[in-house]
Amino acid sequence: MAGRLLAVSDLHVGYPENRAYADALSPGDSGDWLIVAGDVGEVFADVGFVLASLANRFAKVIWTPGNHELWTLPSDPVTLRGAARYEALVKVCRRFGVLTPEDEFPVWDGPGGPVTVAPVFALYDYSFRADGSAAHGAAADRRSAALAAARKAGIRPADEGRLHADPYPSAAAWCRDLVAAAERRLDDVAGPAVLVSHWPLVRDPVTALRHKEFAPWCGTALTAGWHTRHQVVAAVYGHLHIPRTTCYDGVRFEEVSVGYPREWQRRGTAAPGPRVILDGSLLWFSAGGALAELFARRREGVFA
Ligand SMILES: [Fe+2]
Repeated sequence: MAGRLLAVSDLHVGYPENRAYADALSPGDSGDWLIVAGDVGEVFADVGFVLASLANRFAKVIWTPGNHELWTLPSDPVTLRGAARYEALVKVCRRFGVLTPEDEFPVWDGPGGPVTVAPVFALYDYSFRADGSAAHGAAADRRSAALAAARKAGIRPADEGRLHADPYPSAAAWCRDLVAAAERRLDDVAGPAVLVSHWPLVRDPVTALRHKEFAPWCGTALTAGWHTRHQVVAAVYGHLHIPRTTCYDGVRFEEVSVGYPREWQRRGTAAPGPRVILDGSLLWFSAGGALAELFARRREGVFA
């Protein structure tokens, strides 16, 4: 199989410019797969339509939810909240052949493979702090402290009042269950993998936020060891709207967000195309010996 493993996130199709971008996304090769790492949009029908149309164009589409898909806005005819909303989105994805964190993880067999592509849904639990350290204590206290810090900074976390955790008592409680379920799934993965999550799996990237008080809504310390516990070729995420490639503990992290028009228009005249995650062109992404060499070098601290 030829083609490339591509990734994009934070399409935010509620903006006409971004909708046009999403509508124009097309594979360069009939074998291209597309990872969509959350925040397609907020309106239930829009999310389903965009994912279905992408699935029509790409050989495979793999989606994991962002916070915006989980919002329940008063203007949306679909009034489902929390876990029920997520489950309904999964159902729509399955109808159109889009893979989700609830499905068997696919194995990319194209150039650079075989590599398991593992979309995970982990949410957040207010354990990231503005200074990039981990917050401790009860989740309710962490949330109160986070809200107080946000208020003091004059910012309003967009998820509050929009993202509901039903039937869980809080996002943190839902997060705890999601993380446990994802860990069970990941333990069954043998060999190299690409991890896909909307929120970054490690807290380092949040230190680059302009408003650092948003950090508590950007992930969970519970996922901190995932990129080293497994043979992770790349960890794909979005959410922060700071598209870039970084390296933590020798593991490649790819923030693949498109972001809002005002953000990508600041950087250039067009939104960036999907990021190439695997195409076989880089030595350490080819299967077998080169991958073994990568992990050996990581153990030796070459990339530390
Ligand atoms: Fe997000």
